[in-house]
Amino acid sequence: MKSGIDIEVREVGMRDGLQIIPTFFATEGKKAWIEAEAAAGVPEIEVCSFVPPKVSAQFVDHAEIIPVALAQPGLEVSALVPNLKGAERGFQMGVHKMNFVLSASESHNMANVRCTTDESLERLRQIMELRDSSPENKKVRIGSGISTALGCTIEGRVEPKQVYRIAEAMLAMGVDEIAVADTVGYANPNLVREVFTEMMKICGDVPVASHFHDTRGLGLANVLAALETGCRRFDASLAGLGGCPFAPGATGNVVMDDMVFLFESMGLKTGVDLEKLVAVRQIIADNLPEESLHGGVAQAGLPKGYRPASAMMQAAE
Ligand code: COA
Ligand code: ZN
Repeated sequence: MKSGIDIEVREVGMRDGLQIIPTFFATEGKKAWIEAEAAAGVPEIEVCSFVPPKVSAQFVDHAEIIPVALAQPGLEVSALVPNLKGAERGFQMGVHKMNFVLSASESHNMANVRCTTDESLERLRQIMELRDSSPENKKVRIGSGISTALGCTIEGRVEPKQVYRIAEAMLAMGVDEIAVADTVGYANPNLVREVFTEMMKICGDVPVASHFHDTRGLGLANVLAALETGCRRFDASLAGLGGCPFAPGATGNVVMDDMVFLFESMGLKTGVDLEKLVAVRQIIADNLPEESLHGGVAQAGLPKGYRPASAMMQAAE
């Protein structure tokens, strides 16, 4: 985590949001989005997935996007990978971090990456082996996400024990971070508290991140519940871009702009300039005119007398 901030917010809309939008987001637009959001102070952007073009055609231009992202000062450039082939591409492209994905629910894992959860763990082991095989690869951080950790559209309830078992296997392989993902927006704050409290114990020094969707309106409530257990890393997407292929009509990730407002108004520094961040939404609106954008701050503006924690930090310096 960057120094001087209390909370690390990470933009995943460019990957999680765009992957299910059929309209191709123009390459120049993606570059402008990365530049503007990095300039607003967002410390990490997940810029693409390394998946076959037939799985998602949004990322066929990744070789043009990644160098632009890598040129942004201080920006951690990450990408999602489902298997060794994706990770090989990631090492080649020089991303700073790769986020491996598997699902706690067997059926969801099969639908998403076409193998069992244990086979996915074996894929992760291969990726860790490749990461540790050369000094250059060793610089790359491997985050590992547990999707459907708090519920699944195919199986319904997911046993927390299954999540802990997977986390322990990931930790034994030496992952740098574990993200607990409510992929389909089934979580509630009580469940989040239960699972994150246990995950914090299991993971010890290895950071636990959260990845919430706002599918049923509980996104920020779940963020707050995770915050209270000690979680300090939160995924979100600007304007709540995206949805879920397994939940028709659903909204996307937690709205980044509203989440930054939540933290900053509570006195927690994200390092993000909210006004600059809200302005970045225009790039999405220009490139995806048919998408509905979400977010209360963008709609209502900032409250009178709003004093963000990050600005107070700069004033004190
Ligand atoms: N990137 C690019 N190409 C890849 C690839 C990757 N990460 N993984 C496999 N391929 C290629 C193979 O080389 C093969 O190519 P060929 O037909 O020219 O020989 C082809 O894709 C099929 O390979 P296979 O290993 O059989 O993959 P699959 O069809 O079983 O699909 C995944 C498995 C993991 C690649 C696919 O299910 C996937 O990408 N899932 C991720 C979905 C996703 O992004 N979900 C949202 C994030 S939570
Ligand atoms: Zn997601």
